[in-house]
Amino acid sequence: MTLPDTITLTRPDDWHLHLRDGPALAAVVGASAVQFERAIVMPNLRSPVTTTDRAEAYRERILSARPDGSAFSPLMTLYLTDRTAADEIRAACASGFIHGVKLYPAGATTNSDAGVTDLRQAWPALEAMQAERLPLLVHGEVTDPEVDVFDREAVFIERVLAPLMNDFPELRVVFEHITTADAADFVITGPERLAATVTAHHLLLNRNALLVGGVWPHHYCLPVLKRERHRQALLAAIGTGCNRLFLGTDSAPHPRGAKESACGCAGIFTAYTALELYAEAFAEAGMLDRLEAFASHHGPDWYGLPRNVGTLTLERQPTPVPEALPFGNDTLVPFRAGGEVAWTVRNATGRMA
Ligand code: DOR
Ligand code: ZN
Repeated sequence: MTLPDTITLTRPDDWHLHLRDGPALAAVVGASAVQFERAIVMPNLRSPVTTTDRAEAYRERILSARPDGSAFSPLMTLYLTDRTAADEIRAACASGFIHGVKLYPAGATTNSDAGVTDLRQAWPALEAMQAERLPLLVHGEVTDPEVDVFDREAVFIERVLAPLMNDFPELRVVFEHITTADAADFVITGPERLAATVTAHHLLLNRNALLVGGVWPHHYCLPVLKRERHRQALLAAIGTGCNRLFLGTDSAPHPRGAKESACGCAGIFTAYTALELYAEAFAEAGMLDRLEAFASHHGPDWYGLPRNVGTLTLERQPTPVPEALPFGNDTLVPFRAGGEVAWTVRNATGRMA
């Protein structure tokens, strides 16, 4: 199949992004602002974003950290805990700038210690979310030490997500960063109120990229990379054109030392070449024609927001990726560091470094 030299898309959004705070925020926000009009910003700061007041203050810090002239718009989320009150949910809805509430099972991932230990504790908050139509954004992995790390997403569906959706028959749910055939099936055969984000790295890599030829800490993320058949299932699910699957990078920067460590932390920084990576994955799978809807239409349609009016053009020219980027007083190793990505966003002015 011959590939086009350029493709022009409606300006896209990132429906799952970690921006951090302070100098780290200032270092990374530009990369997303160049490519995306809006992003759903994850609330797992060291001191989590558990209230509307905190979300408002964090939103202000993000707006101030944007490059000059940027119109990038952060869509805020709240961090669900065992103690989130129904009133807090109603306040979040009334704010107009909070677009979802994130469920981190306690201990599942980075800064999830304050997450939910027992979903029954969160019942009043979930009831309020259902009533207000405020989506629950789910990190879908069980934390049971008996469950193999590669099975934690599939087991989560059976033990937590399916029962939750039965208990709350109108709750809107985004199954974040799905990684398995099980999750892809669950979503595409599910109801309209269930959607999912898919990362570029889970479309490009299988678990060999983590463990063959050595341990590759910059490919470690959660949910962890899976077998090739799961990667293929994610691509196939998107290939069906399902309008409840959309772009969410889960770009998650950590300082180099925290990744290249005896106990490296989870997270892959893809924001530097996010759209280029998706274009590469879609082109390899012969479905570039699906990219615009996935990146720019399905997300706003599902969230009930307007589609963006601008456009963005990708050229089939390689983008070189630096070995490292500045990250406050630290450095950050981007995905494909020292290599290249097969596409280039043409209007990528204001890139970091
Ligand atoms: O790899 C990940 N990194 N997965 C997550 O769920 C959290 C994220 C982070 O915040 O670093
Ligand atoms: Zn995430």
